[in-house]
Amino acid sequence: MEISARAAQLTPSLTLSIDSKAKAMKAEGIDVCGFGAGEPDFDTPDHIKQAAIQALEAGFTKYTPSAGLPDLRQAIAEKLAADNQLSYKASQIVVTNGAKHACYNAILATCQGGDEVVIPAPYWVSYPDMVHLAGADPVMVPTTERNGWKMRAVDFENAMTPRTKMLILNTPGNPTGAVYTREELQAIVEIAAQEDIYILADEIYEKLVYDDVQHVSVASVSKEAADLTITVNGFSKAYAMTGWRLGYLAAPEAVAKAAESIQSHSTSHPCSFAQRGALAALKGDQQPLADMRDEFNMRRSYMYDRVTKIPNITAVKPEGAFYILVNISQLGLSSQNFADRLLSKANVAVIPGAAFGDDRTVRLSYATSIDIIKKGLDRFQDFCRTL
Ligand SMILES: Cc1ncc(COP(=O)(O)O)c(C=O)c1O
Repeated sequence: MEISARAAQLTPSLTLSIDSKAKAMKAEGIDVCGFGAGEPDFDTPDHIKQAAIQALEAGFTKYTPSAGLPDLRQAIAEKLAADNQLSYKASQIVVTNGAKHACYNAILATCQGGDEVVIPAPYWVSYPDMVHLAGADPVMVPTTERNGWKMRAVDFENAMTPRTKMLILNTPGNPTGAVYTREELQAIVEIAAQEDIYILADEIYEKLVYDDVQHVSVASVSKEAADLTITVNGFSKAYAMTGWRLGYLAAPEAVAKAAESIQSHSTSHPCSFAQRGALAALKGDQQPLADMRDEFNMRRSYMYDRVTKIPNITAVKPEGAFYILVNISQLGLSSQNFADRLLSKANVAVIPGAAFGDDRTVRLSYATSIDIIKKGLDRFQDFCRTL
């Protein structure tokens, strides 16, 4: 049977192919150390689960409004005001089936054939394919370790054409862990504002920043930023709720309406009782989140110290998220070849940077226990020394 050109152009996921190989090895009883995880290894806090359970038991199992429960949209607007200095009305919020879905709705609501979308590389895997699905063209802007894997305003300016419709900024970033400062954002926003270019600000890792680094919301840096930015966030990473599929976007009224309309004809709305859990996450105790961040911080320092002691390997200390992007280019292998050999020879799973548009690197996640991190890094180090 023939599939559409739209579907045929999608890139097969390199992330999934390594993951399925690692799973098959584990199923054979092989002791694999997995550094591929893209989700917190913690359980969802109990009070959040209880809220969803109570909702289920009370029969809260029917359709909800397309853009989400009114009290949840209101709570998100209050969270964005309190945590991010953003002034959105509840009517500007659309609750979605995960932050990924919020990004997709936002891109579909604003971009079409003939448009270009600027994406700093290395990037989160799904952005280019989402842009393709909207019929638009992704334009990658390579970044460097020297600049902390961050796109400078001048790089953005050089990539702009009359077709540029949107810029995607992910801060804190996956896979780089880079966090943009207010000044860096202001400079980028100034360029975008000259040509009315939308900014999709994916801030899903906002709660995972370390040391004295501050997360700055893109839409908060100026009036122009607020007018042009679609803010995306969610519950997956902050509250260890990846499987709940709950995220949201906050946008200028017309974009929010369009995103709601798209959602109403595709997924209808996110799961009813899961939304009750999300409300409890926002309103309830925030301590579990701080505990999780402390644990990630300890692992981050350990992993960074170990990795950067290996000869011919470099890395920028990540300021946020839970990944370290390791530059392996001096070892003479492509990222895919490195990852394949590391898995088959040393039983360690990492994600090849080719998946993120950067073949010089591999991504190591520290969303796994410190014992696995120690064992996996012993093997990683021995493997690198053989090259
Ligand atoms: C940068 C980035 N944005 C969005 C998402 C998707 O989050 P969600 O699980 O809420 O869809 C991820 C998940 O890995 C991510 O890394």
